[in-house]
Amino acid sequence: MRSILVLIFGLILIGALSCDYKYIEPIIVEIPDTGEPVSFTNDVEPIFQPKCTSCHASRSPILTTGNAYNSLMGGGYVDTENPEESIIYVKGASGHPGGSKALTAEELAWILKWIEEGAANN
Ligand code: HEC
Repeated sequence: MRSILVLIFGLILIGALSCDYKYIEPIIVEIPDTGEPVSFTNDVEPIFQPKCTSCHASRSPILTTGNAYNSLMGGGYVDTENPEESIIYVKGASGHPGGSKALTAEELAWILKWIEEGAANN
């Protein structure tokens, strides 16, 4: 996983150094601090239903409502020690699954914040 990230960063660097590369500002989205912890049930799981479950109802991680939490935690897709290295975050941030189903920067920010807060089943 780490070597893939190094490779990706290397490719980005090569791209950035080549003259015809157009630098795109990364979109950094702040989740408004409501004083409430991010809720898996209300904030995170609803992201998966429309975008992921057409495939991830039968393939790991199972992301259907009611099953997503156990599948993500049991499958090792969430790393609360290193939230940004969580497979669920890295995979989404890589553009998977692409097209109109790719996660937006805001959706990724919600997922990351939920993991940073300890990935509670709340
Ligand atoms: C069109 C079908 C399709 C959709 C929609 C889709 N996936 Fe996937 N997903 C796959 C396939 C096929 C794989 C296995 C190949 C790969 O890793 O890309 C996969 C792999 C993954 C993996 C890695 C699994 C592992 O065990 O390493 C994660 C995490 C994941 N998907 C998350 C998501 C999320 C989150 C969404 C919704 C935003 C999503 N996927 C939407 C087809 C899909």
